[in-house]
Amino acid sequence: MTTPPSTPKKLFIKTYGCQMNVYDSQRMAEAMGSEGYVLTENQAEADMVLLNTCHIREKAAEKLYSDLGRLKPLKAERPDLKIGVAGCVAQAEGAEIQRRMPLVDLVVGPQAYHRLPAMVRKGGGIDTEFPAEDKFEHLPKPAATRRAPAAFLTVQEGCDKFCAFCVVPYTRGAEVSRPVARILAEARDLVGRGVREITLLGQNVNGWHGEGPEGREWGFGRLIRAIAEIDGLDRIRYTTSHPNDMADDLIAAHRDEPKLMPYLHLPVQSGSDRILKAMNRKHTVETYLRLIERIREARPDIMLTSDFIVGFPGETDDDHRATLDLVARVNFGTAFSFKYSPRPGTPAYERPEVESDIADARLQELQALLTSQQKAAQQSMVGRELGVLFEKPGRNPGQMVGKSDYLHAVFVEAPQARVGDLVRVRITHSAPNSLAGELAA
Ligand code: 5AD
Ligand code: SF4
Repeated sequence: MTTPPSTPKKLFIKTYGCQMNVYDSQRMAEAMGSEGYVLTENQAEADMVLLNTCHIREKAAEKLYSDLGRLKPLKAERPDLKIGVAGCVAQAEGAEIQRRMPLVDLVVGPQAYHRLPAMVRKGGGIDTEFPAEDKFEHLPKPAATRRAPAAFLTVQEGCDKFCAFCVVPYTRGAEVSRPVARILAEARDLVGRGVREITLLGQNVNGWHGEGPEGREWGFGRLIRAIAEIDGLDRIRYTTSHPNDMADDLIAAHRDEPKLMPYLHLPVQSGSDRILKAMNRKHTVETYLRLIERIREARPDIMLTSDFIVGFPGETDDDHRATLDLVARVNFGTAFSFKYSPRPGTPAYERPEVESDIADARLQELQALLTSQQKAAQQSMVGRELGVLFEKPGRNPGQMVGKSDYLHAVFVEAPQARVGDLVRVRITHSAPNSLAGELAA
């Protein structure tokens, strides 16, 4: 342990991609805090720039190189500026990054973050090992500073599903579940620091199965119930889930546990059995629809969201229509849809691609349908009274912005309210990407 210098060094972190990266960036910032670094929002004044990258689609990965290109003048001006690449591109490309971009001082994969402070002390290096230990346990304990009211907590990492298009099993590695005791300790610590809503994270979060306090294995539903017992915690969410891991007990938790928010992100990727098979999803359209039915029986007001890939190798017009049909049958609150991007090292990489124009047209068509469903879902909130957790002041004086139970951003006139208040709001208006409402009497 080095003693922090009197004038703290400044660390700028840019986070790409998923919420897991947001969580990891926070943990790296805390770890670097014990090395005497404080976060800055201004890249130009940073002593160290850390890019926490995403490898899921080609565009995301290429973004790293254009951002590194833009850092060249800053590094030329201040050669002592440290530049680090973390995250999934670091894991996938390792030393190649430094070969392509010699200005990079260090490359650290997502499983090696606990060794970041030592690497920085050494002046750089490459670490993309998958250590056997829980990296989170080896990160310095965060200072007991106050936190924003909504926080992420990683409970599971990695994926054993090997969908044919996906890099995650290679970049994040095999599924690892953190033990109950550590998760509960972290959750209690967050609540003690002002957190009222926790989103449990994992690439396959509902596949979490960890060691319980008595040494026996717990499932994810039981973990949620245990976290719900923490006084002062009001809301629980989780993401991202695989349909095949929606255990009965987890579905039951949606029925029984009021702190579990009525919102579920459940990627389906395609509505064609042929394509689901080619994707190695290991479920069918029918099993997905039946699952949705059971979830809605347990929690009738639940809002469902999903991920879709269009233009997967071999996708025909009929397959695409089947996807539109599934979307029409489920009726999603919102969804992410992507054009298939071939990723080196994945099973689908070498397969003949759907013509780019065709895939573009399909994406547009799917997005138009999903947008209309999103609009309808938001519109259906108007007139309803919902819980809203205030996360920050709005642009106008006296205004607050928070998230509804269904994760919509809600703008409310509430001059007396404070960040962290959980209030009842009557929704009065739906805008394209947010709602407006007034405090309920
Ligand atoms: N091309 C396009 N989209 C992808 N996703 C994952 N891999 C790819 C790929 N190669 C999408 C999936 C996943 C989401 C996080 O990203 O829909 O659920
Ligand atoms: Fe990727 Fe499939 Fe694992 Fe999700 S379940 S992370 S899409 S391999």
